[in-house]
Amino acid sequence: MTNVESLTETTVETIARSASKIHQGLVGRRVTADEENPSGETQFRADVFADELLADQLSAIDGVAQYASEERSEIVDCGIDGLSVAVDPIDGSSNLRSNNTIGTVFGIYNEPLPAPGDALVTAGYVLYGPITTMTVARGGTVTEYELSGSERTIVRDDVTIPDEPSVYGFGGRVPNWTDDFRKYAHEIEGELELHYSGAMIDDVNQVLIDGGIFAYPALTDSPEGKLRLQFEGNPIGYIIETAGGRSSDGTRSLLEVKPTDLHARTPFYIGNADLINRLESALE
Ligand code: F6P
Repeated sequence: MTNVESLTETTVETIARSASKIHQGLVGRRVTADEENPSGETQFRADVFADELLADQLSAIDGVAQYASEERSEIVDCGIDGLSVAVDPIDGSSNLRSNNTIGTVFGIYNEPLPAPGDALVTAGYVLYGPITTMTVARGGTVTEYELSGSERTIVRDDVTIPDEPSVYGFGGRVPNWTDDFRKYAHEIEGELELHYSGAMIDDVNQVLIDGGIFAYPALTDSPEGKLRLQFEGNPIGYIIETAGGRSSDGTRSLLEVKPTDLHARTPFYIGNADLINRLESALE
């Protein structure tokens, strides 16, 4: 194992252990925190708790140079050279109130942040569903684990997106979709089954398991959509592409988009390659 591989494994292991603490820490923290994150969204106490926990745990790793999160405006500089870790501590936190699925998303980059997707060495997510799972893409394969306490057990090696797509989920309000996207969505509605949970990570996971497409598109009142490139677009693009699918910002892979700002948003489309190819032609 190279240094980078072993440091990456330590980082993944630290996130897996933190996930169990995050999960337990949700109790009593499904309420808002009177603060907004750098994207102007109201934070839950759970968002702040998970961010502080991950900042402590990850910045203590010898070899992690930077920690950044969707929940804080500034990058934490750990004062050493090494890898950069960008996390969305709790993706889909508005699902907390109704006790629906949420997740933790992470990307490990070998460049200072903000970094492009092609600087990712590993990306993954934790899904707090009926059980807690972790999905990690690295070295050309995607692995799914079950997490229980401090145990991490492989349940699927070499996860690939099924050839036959079956589900779709599109975010944003329909009146705010562009005409081209609305036309494409109408076609897809006739072909696939709707799955929309309100947590990007749950909807992406469903596409990875069942095949299909998830989009949070460019909107007429928000041409960059809602999701963040550094914390959501890059890591999910990396996972889906490693699993044999495609990611896009509407014209090119999310991994090819150069970040302009740590908290920059991007239109977000992921899924089976032929569905994303069709989407790009529809948006041309
Ligand atoms: O990152 C924010 C997020 O919670 C995503 O997990 C999810 O896909 C999206 O917002 C949902 O947004 P909306 O409430 O507009 O459907």
